[in-house]
Amino acid sequence: MVVDKIKDIREIIKSQKSQNKKIGLVPTMGYLHEGHLSLIKKAKENSDFVCASIFVNPIQFGPNEDYDKYPRDIERDLKLLEENGCDLVFTPSVEEMYPNERLTTITVRKITDKLCGAYRPGHFDGVCTVVAKLFNIFTPDIAVFGQKDAQQVAVIKKMVEDLNIPVEIIASPIVRDKDGLALSSRNTYLTHDERRAALILNKSLKEAEKLLAAGERSAEKILDAVRKTLENEPQCKVQYVSCVHPDTLDDLNTIGDKALIAIACYIGNTRLIDNLLWSVD
Ligand code: PAJ
Repeated sequence: MVVDKIKDIREIIKSQKSQNKKIGLVPTMGYLHEGHLSLIKKAKENSDFVCASIFVNPIQFGPNEDYDKYPRDIERDLKLLEENGCDLVFTPSVEEMYPNERLTTITVRKITDKLCGAYRPGHFDGVCTVVAKLFNIFTPDIAVFGQKDAQQVAVIKKMVEDLNIPVEIIASPIVRDKDGLALSSRNTYLTHDERRAALILNKSLKEAEKLLAAGERSAEKILDAVRKTLENEPQCKVQYVSCVHPDTLDDLNTIGDKALIAIACYIGNTRLIDNLLWSVD
């Protein structure tokens, strides 16, 4: 079922809830790939009625970012969602989501000043505001987000905690192509040669993983190794390489039982992110 009006979503959800169905939500911006579909699968495992939203949210893009050229293919997305057993898809227009002048913004402070937030001012305000709206529209029991956007997961979890939003946030692992490149709708911007160069992101994280497995616990040493690997690829311009705690996003000096190694790089004009979530098992 495909619906583009908020009032119709509310009616359908009300009816599903009256049948005691547990509602699962997967928010997306479309141009779906196996990463998104893995979230649908996870939602199916954890709820009875799986909903997805497809909305390229204008307020989370900076003025010089790619809102206009962000890839879109709604027909293909709807087909994929249907094939993967998604029960309800919400495809609102910008006017449906932002009908009047918006005077309210959700800001999660501090943890949005780091990593991607430091380079994309206002981005997480836009994400939190739209996700809070989607939570209010769907009132889902669970919502699934990809670990690919590790900071997004931390920020949404904090928003839900701080605002007592009654939803369980489930994080789902990064899905990669066979050659290791993390799937992203933005990979479509890469030329053939840039796509090859982009493999350096995962390769650098593999270096980090190797050092961690060998017992290295100095964040500086691990970050040096990651940076050195990235520098081997002339087409790669590093924006940041960080080793932080996955929940607080505080920088780590010595790695304890959990760490997030997060990187952002430009390959040509395309900004790519990737990360390694590491924990002692
Ligand atoms: P989008 O980039 O479309 O991503 C939708 C969801 O898919 C996010 O939770 C993202 O982390 C997840 N995802 C993307 N690539 C993935 C991969 N390779 N493996 C696993 N999960 C992956 O993130 C957004 O949209 C927006 O910010 C949104 C939350 C929808 C708010 O507008």
